Amino acid sequence: MTIYPLESLSRDEVTNAVDLFRSHHKNKKSFFSSIGLQEPKKSDVLGKKTIPRVIELTGVDEEQDGGFVALIDVTGGKVLSSTRLPLDTQVAYNYADLGHAVLLTKSNAQWLESVAARGIDVSSEDALALIQIDPWPAGGYAHDSIPAGHRALRCIAFLKEDPTDNGYARPIHGLIAHVDLTAGVVTHVEDSGVIPMPTASGRYDCESPRAIRSDLKPLSITQPEGTSFKVVGNRISWQGFDVRASVHPVNGLVLHELSLEDRPILYRAALSEMVVPYGDNDPMHSWKHVLDASEYNMGTMINSLKLGCDCLGEIHYLDTHQVTFEGNPRTIENAICIHEEDYGIQWKHSNLERQTAEVRRSRRLVISSVFTIGNYDYGFYWYLYLDGTIQMEVKLTGIVGVSAMTQATYNPSQSPVIGENLSSPVHQHLFCFRLDWQLDGGTNSLFENQIELMPVSPQNPEGTQFQSVSRHLTTESEAIRDNAPHVSRNWKVVNPASKNKWGVPVAYKLLPAASPTLFAQAGSQVAARAAFASHNLWATPFSEGEFSAAGPNTVMHAGQGGLAEMTAENRNIDDCDLVVWHTVGLTHVPRPEDWPVMPVEYTGFHLIPSGFFDKNPTLDLPRKCDD
Ligand code: CO
Repeated sequence: MTIYPLESLSRDEVTNAVDLFRSHHKNKKSFFSSIGLQEPKKSDVLGKKTIPRVIELTGVDEEQDGGFVALIDVTGGKVLSSTRLPLDTQVAYNYADLGHAVLLTKSNAQWLESVAARGIDVSSEDALALIQIDPWPAGGYAHDSIPAGHRALRCIAFLKEDPTDNGYARPIHGLIAHVDLTAGVVTHVEDSGVIPMPTASGRYDCESPRAIRSDLKPLSITQPEGTSFKVVGNRISWQGFDVRASVHPVNGLVLHELSLEDRPILYRAALSEMVVPYGDNDPMHSWKHVLDASEYNMGTMINSLKLGCDCLGEIHYLDTHQVTFEGNPRTIENAICIHEEDYGIQWKHSNLERQTAEVRRSRRLVISSVFTIGNYDYGFYWYLYLDGTIQMEVKLTGIVGVSAMTQATYNPSQSPVIGENLSSPVHQHLFCFRLDWQLDGGTNSLFENQIELMPVSPQNPEGTQFQSVSRHLTTESEAIRDNAPHVSRNWKVVNPASKNKWGVPVAYKLLPAASPTLFAQAGSQVAARAAFASHNLWATPFSEGEFSAAGPNTVMHAGQGGLAEMTAENRNIDDCDLVVWHTVGLTHVPRPEDWPVMPVEYTGFHLIPSGFFDKNPTLDLPRKCDD
């Protein structure tokens, strides 16, 4: 049976790929970082070629380099290639790396001594089990004691009251174990001084002592006649939309071949990369700028979602099949949640003279997944609307980074107080989405629109006039742009060859959210490694293999291969196979309300049809209130 090239990996394919890899590498003990379908060539998919299923398997073994990337043809039953990566651009950390770093830290005499000096019991296995270690990528700031290119992690620690406690309530402040995974040693224990541990509880579960509100009446969402969407494999159709959804090791939730009424819009849309830079001067945080997607393989940290908790209503779930670090297949059930949501009114007008109103309900199709990376949880929600709008909403929740503090160490502008003897450093979450356009099936162009106030003149005597100005962005350098809400700036993807009834080329507009760019001085490690975050917009002509806003394989790398390098040749982007990269996010100045677990914060963007239709496409919605 032929499998569609963009269909998700099956459990059998995972098993086959690992078996083929193992028989090819007889003597090696490998620890796997990720498994995923190799992105089939766009031209082959669009050309409806029969494409063998090729799986990309990454990981590390005893060789002291950047790890391996193997391509395995599970259709033909052979390993196509197995590439070794250099030290300065390594495969993502895997669970074996993280576990190894924790073991090395907990067995280091100097680290144990420093922990004991803080009055913490380290005398038994049970006592040590209460110490939670969080390994962080050393990124561009590996300690001097670690040779360049060695795979490195920084371990910070927390003390739990019991195994069920919120580990983050009691940071063991001032202590970092610098771990060299390549050499298998803790090379340095950094102790910047003891700050007493906070003592207040940070529990947030319902089992901890607290009154639970009892006056919320049931809110049921039912669709007694079933849903209006259909799912076959990973292909979803709803109200004229057709799209495929899958999980990628780095990009997380991916949409493929999104079309509306058989008119293509996007070939592929997904997160490409994200960065979480910290702005605090505290040595526990000042180096942090994790590239969560590529350094940890965000897709491997996907949640299994629960009906009634994560998703409400008539839900269809998709599972995803991955690999454990030991090479066993691992199925995450209910990894992608698909459902419909009522979304208030779609449109309305009241005729005051006749005292009548016409109103229609809006609804949206939600395709979502949630990923947990250390203390943070990120939900990615694609929304498709009846009027052709496509929205990405990122939901940020989980537990903020924390510092133990005293009145003497308190630094409110860089680490506001959020609890008793507890502060939380300022930081950012910046997400770069890669939007591979295919608007109305042809080549596309990019425009920037904004409003210009017109000068006072005989035609504009009051100075009240303004106009919409459109600028064609024709090269990569012209398309490096920032948000400007004060002039209502947005960007438009146009198919110049496809005109609507009014003679205007069809388009979709990218409406950015209010969003900062990266706060890091040019020349810093962060600015180089996360250059994609220094601007809200980039655009490139499609090129096979250009998927990674920060460059592929970012562990221990210095920023090579990212958008800054990708666009250095200043290629032409006029009327081409257009890829738009959009960085959105927020700067987080933590508040007491963010503790001990953070209410969801939102960021994202909208894509809205702009002359894609000839008129309001929702006039045909049924009236629901015939009273
Ligand atoms: Co935050």
